Amino acid sequence: MTAQLLDGNAVSAAIRAEVADEAAQLKATHGIVPGLATVLVGEDPASMTYVEMKQEQCRKAGMSAFERVLPEDVTQEGLEAAIAELNADPNVHGILVQLPLPDHLDEDRTLAAIALDKDVDGFHPTNVAKLALQDVEPAFAPCMPLGGIELLDRYGVEIHGKHAVVLGPSNIVGLPLALLLMNRGATLTVCHAHTADLPLLVRLGDIVVAAIDEPRMVKADWVKPGAAVIDVGWSRVKDETAKKGFRVVGNVDFDAVQEVAGYITPVPGGTGPMTIAMLLKNTLLSAKRHAGIE
Ligand code: GUN
Repeated sequence: MTAQLLDGNAVSAAIRAEVADEAAQLKATHGIVPGLATVLVGEDPASMTYVEMKQEQCRKAGMSAFERVLPEDVTQEGLEAAIAELNADPNVHGILVQLPLPDHLDEDRTLAAIALDKDVDGFHPTNVAKLALQDVEPAFAPCMPLGGIELLDRYGVEIHGKHAVVLGPSNIVGLPLALLLMNRGATLTVCHAHTADLPLLVRLGDIVVAAIDEPRMVKADWVKPGAAVIDVGWSRVKDETAKKGFRVVGNVDFDAVQEVAGYITPVPGGTGPMTIAMLLKNTLLSAKRHAGIE
């Protein structure tokens, strides 16, 4: 058996087109253009690339992109003042502070400074806490986890009543995805690098999320036949046969696992492209709420 690919490139393109349609309608009917503001501190090349990609996709979807670039040595007060301005700006419906921040800045305080109803990244501590509460909805859920759920939904993978095993409970991916799966009626096992009998536990999963930042860690004999495997890993590994001398791989031993799984996300082209698509979707949702129509 070869697994059905959960194709993040195709699904994210469809979502971006849906968002663009809805954004055009919102502009035509209410005169509102959804706006995302990104805040970048310093000049980390990877963060600069991520922020540029987010800005570009925003504009392509007919939305406004506002950019704040702050110097590496900005003070906590300076950063919070920039966020306060964006909180007060009626053209800004979503605010994203690119992480990680330089060490001298307080990440928790910074994320808590973002207006709850503009927290389109879903990282505000109150939004994270609400994810963990029964019958309480956060204003927004984080984008990569939302993207994973969206892929399962669009390919008709049942979540309710299934056993989900999440490997790696990080704040921005593994933990929120675990909570989203639980809120959708999955039975949950959360594992980490020091969990005993890891292969045995992962093999219980009808849905497996690999978010442990360890290249190709999840092996074929860890996976229950037919399981849906969501890989949120992204690493470069040396490969002399590749033109660039490296290959991008996830946390799952893809070639072998795809022969066992029922569904699997490729890396690249799985959860990665879904993240920006869900960010656009959250920003559109925020703009609709500000217009009083959601
Ligand atoms: N750094 C890595 N991923 C993300 C993300 O999804 N949002 C933000 N704000 N920073 C990140």
